[in-house]
Amino acid sequence: MTETALTVQQTARPMGFPTPDHFRFAESPVPDPSPGTALVENLYWSVDPYHREMMDGDFELNAPLEGRTLGRVIASRAPELPEGAIVFHRRGWRTHAVVGPAEARRVPEYQGVPLSAHLGVLGGTGLTAYVGLTRIAGLRAGDDVFVSAAAGGVGTATGRFARLLGAGRLIGSAGSPAKVRHLTDQVGYDAAFDYHEGPVRDLLAKAAPDGIDVFVDNVGGDHLAAAIGALRERGRVVRVGTVGQYNTPGTSQAHFNHADVVEKSLRIEGFLVSNYRDVQRELEEFAVPHLQRGTLALDETVVDGFERIVEAFLLMLRGGNTGKILVRAT
Ligand SMILES: NC(=O)c1ccc[n+]([C@@H]2O[C@H](COP(=O)([O-])OP(=O)(O)OC[C@H]3O[C@@H](n4cnc5c(N)ncnc54)[C@H](OP(=O)(O)O)[C@@H]3O)[C@@H](O)[C@H]2O)c1
Repeated sequence: MTETALTVQQTARPMGFPTPDHFRFAESPVPDPSPGTALVENLYWSVDPYHREMMDGDFELNAPLEGRTLGRVIASRAPELPEGAIVFHRRGWRTHAVVGPAEARRVPEYQGVPLSAHLGVLGGTGLTAYVGLTRIAGLRAGDDVFVSAAAGGVGTATGRFARLLGAGRLIGSAGSPAKVRHLTDQVGYDAAFDYHEGPVRDLLAKAAPDGIDVFVDNVGGDHLAAAIGALRERGRVVRVGTVGQYNTPGTSQAHFNHADVVEKSLRIEGFLVSNYRDVQRELEEFAVPHLQRGTLALDETVVDGFERIVEAFLLMLRGGNTGKILVRAT
């Protein structure tokens, strides 16, 4: 076992895009578990857009950051967390964490399912996609669905789940031609476009000439305005996130025809996945058999080495990931 633990700390509040100068790595001795806790050596870390939102005020400066993480118990003084157990916890952005049973959950080991899936399609990312489709959109067989940031973690999970749940035409937008190809060739989207190639309204009209029933929105802004125009009667907008604004404060908000919402009887609903933890078991009952049969694949960008966690986070904010971005211990 290594003698030194590393944590990442935020040192300053960014305006716009953060840089490596907003972080530092701090060394400390590997902690000992106190009675009722266990020492976890972390194996996989999730870096997420919400971390960017937390950098504006929620993360304390010069203190270890928090995030969703998988690790192995290497020393235990808690019978619920025996040595060798693989656990999920939120004390991430560090190589080692001391956790109690209330803050760490043992991860079920499903045959044939890679561990990383527990931070992707079986984790908060997959739960967000699943809740968005089943609880917020109320997806019906044959519904035509448009997804923004479709090549990211939530976006790829949304596309794959929507296909398995019987959606009709699937349309996605993403930030590069390679991502567009990934959506149509791998994920199962019927049409996709690079949103840099023109006004989103025009690109969407071409990709979905007959309109859409559901919009799963990870971006906001022009995407939201275009989708409201394209939605059919009784269409639904699932507001998942606003990643188009996190690094550009002052970005103009979506301008859309408000009468459309009334005249087409549209529903626009946002949600926080943290309010839907009770759906986790249902997600696993749905997704695990598909993962085991090979009818559901993982879309991942894996960055190797804890020392690259800041790099991975900054890469994701600029669209460098396809699928769920993860950092893996080496
Ligand atoms: N409501 C909830 O509880 C909940 C839970 C989880 C996530 N979320 C939200 O879901 C969204 C996706 O999260 P994720 O974890 O799956 O991240 P992700 O989509 O894997 O990564 C972020 C992606 O955003 C895209 N992006 C960045 N700037 C953009 C811009 N200006 N316009 C359009 N796209 C942009 C980039 O892809 P491109 O190359 O395509 O630009 C990037 O890959 C985020 O808005 C996040 O906040 C919400």
